[in-house]
Amino acid sequence: MECQSEVAPRTCVDIHVLEAVALAATRRAAVASYAWVGRHDQKAADAAATTAMRQALADAPGRGTVVIGEGEKDDAPMLFNGEIVGTGHGPDFDIAVDPLEGTSFCAKDLPGALATIAFAEPGTLWSPGPGFYMDKIVVPPQAKDVIDLDDPPERTLLKVATALGKQISELRVVIMDKPRHQDLIARVVRAGAAVQTPAGGDVGGSLAVLLPTLDVDLLLGVGGTPEGVMTATAVRALGGGMLGRLAPQRAEEADAIRAAGMSLDRIYTCDELAGGDGFFVASGVSGGPILGRPRLSDDRTIVESLLISQGQVRHLTQTTFEKIPG
Ligand code: FBP
Repeated sequence: MECQSEVAPRTCVDIHVLEAVALAATRRAAVASYAWVGRHDQKAADAAATTAMRQALADAPGRGTVVIGEGEKDDAPMLFNGEIVGTGHGPDFDIAVDPLEGTSFCAKDLPGALATIAFAEPGTLWSPGPGFYMDKIVVPPQAKDVIDLDDPPERTLLKVATALGKQISELRVVIMDKPRHQDLIARVVRAGAAVQTPAGGDVGGSLAVLLPTLDVDLLLGVGGTPEGVMTATAVRALGGGMLGRLAPQRAEEADAIRAAGMSLDRIYTCDELAGGDGFFVASGVSGGPILGRPRLSDDRTIVESLLISQGQVRHLTQTTFEKIPG
């Protein structure tokens, strides 16, 4: 998304302008959904985040296409796939979005809920069609060339440990605590690695792999496709490794994928999931090791955000006069 004004004025964009829009969108979604933290109403929390993000994206210069939104699999409020956002005056761009990632964490006031979005050059984000779930592996840059989704987990652990210069016993792996992962978790534990099993939130789990301060080496398991595409923008921006493969969880999902002419066997590389210049932004909703929750100080709201772009991770704290809705 670089500015090449002489060549193609229509696609010329200052990436910092779009980064600012993305930051504003996740901050507004975070503040709006924070009002629902601990209220045990996932739909209301999701709706608040989605509405706030949609309003913020309306101000984006240019024409953005939601390539992959979130919500369809859970029948939750969502930015729709194919929805157009922005003022229409400026560059084209694609987005992948989950206004509230970790909805149940927000509803139950548990750490880990984030407002998230990824921006990319048009045509560079993978569309999973009717696929809601995908198998994923995410590793830091040093292990990017050794992963293979066809490997059994024991082999993956050995290869990743070797690439990182560690013993398997020194690896920490994130696998979401889902019934579908029971066997995987047992095998990884038996192989000797430590396993962190959050109830959900594989964007957060992948960020923990990418951020050296969080002491996680690997993410394994099946999660959502929107989360996978957003994660891929962050992984690509930081030079990490990621592979994904559609992993339908119900027969109807598998049938719909086949009917759309998509393969259930194909393994997608990180570059195939998110191929062009792009960036990832998250703001904290319910707190946790990655980003704190919005805080009120006098009449100001302080929001913590993360911008991952062009090899850099920037932690940003913004104080606004925007009120947390009561
Ligand atoms: P949402 O809260 O945004 O719905 O997603 C939370 C999440 O845990 C994702 O991080 C993960 O990819 C996905 O749900 C897994 O789906 P499921 O909970 O249906 O297994």
